[in-house]
Amino acid sequence: MPLVSSGEMFKKAYGKYAVGAFNVNNMEIIQGIVDAAKEEQAPLILQVSAGARKYAKHIYLIKLIEAAMEDTGLSICLHLDHGEDFEICKACVDGGFTSVMIDGSKFPFEENIALTAKVVEYAHAHGVSVEGELGRLAGVEDAVKVNAKDATYTDPDQAVEFVKRTKVDSLAIAIGTSHGAYKFKGEAQLDFERLKKIAGLLPEFPLVLHGASTVLPEFVAKCNEYGGKLSDAKGVPEEMLKQAGTMGVCKINIDTDLRLAMTASIREHFAKNPSDFDPRQYLKPAREAVKNMVKHKLRSVLNCSNQA
Ligand code: G3H
Ligand code: 13P
Ligand code: ZN
Repeated sequence: MPLVSSGEMFKKAYGKYAVGAFNVNNMEIIQGIVDAAKEEQAPLILQVSAGARKYAKHIYLIKLIEAAMEDTGLSICLHLDHGEDFEICKACVDGGFTSVMIDGSKFPFEENIALTAKVVEYAHAHGVSVEGELGRLAGVEDAVKVNAKDATYTDPDQAVEFVKRTKVDSLAIAIGTSHGAYKFKGEAQLDFERLKKIAGLLPEFPLVLHGASTVLPEFVAKCNEYGGKLSDAKGVPEEMLKQAGTMGVCKINIDTDLRLAMTASIREHFAKNPSDFDPRQYLKPAREAVKNMVKHKLRSVLNCSNQA
């Protein structure tokens, strides 16, 4: 069963719900996510960052995801997350991905357009879809470091020009989300007026939200209860993300909430079983924690259960 592209998924989702794009970098995370998507019969995008690709190696990730499709019968889109240059996008197109992101958001507008258009030309010639990004998110990630003060929201008129000139298939916009676990001090608010304007100017065009983890307080608390030292942070309220899914946002990226669920489970395991040293003993409940978190997101945030 071949990997699928995101085009059909987005067409079906537009205006009704969003497809979850979950970051993967090892077998347990992949298994937890696909088992949840299977039980929920949900459409699914698995995405790989440059860091994940370096950590696990391209070939291992491809083979693991092929195994996941064979095992579950699910159609999966495999996407490059935050491709930072033409070369990594090309490597992923050539290496079997069905979707790539070229993140030129750190460049001036014209440079972002030129780079994105170059990736689109290559990817489209190979049947692969492309996500671009315009506007800047705040946050701390391995490869995505933007000072909160520099964060600027997406300009609606620029978004129209960007899509027209680059011919991207989807666009990540900045309307108040941020990457990582250390988000804004207060609760993040989405700029729905801006979203409405962008979606109105780009009818039926799939929009993407990055940095869409909510940093659920119970998981931060659980990490800290078992020896963690995470500071309090609040992500985007889940209700707001659900609403965005009815307003033209077709893809919602979630990584941090899965990391927190997995880490909380492993911390709890070792606190309660300090003499364990068999990785299966702590990775099995960790995988289950990922699965439960993804099921929750598919049902309550993405609203995409039974849409596979
Ligand atoms: O937005 C980025 C993703 O959360 C991936 O993070 O670069 O640490 O793999 P990473
Ligand atoms: P979070 O850090 O909020 O989970 O965002 C993940 C993301 O945007 C991946 O590209
Ligand atoms: Zn992102």
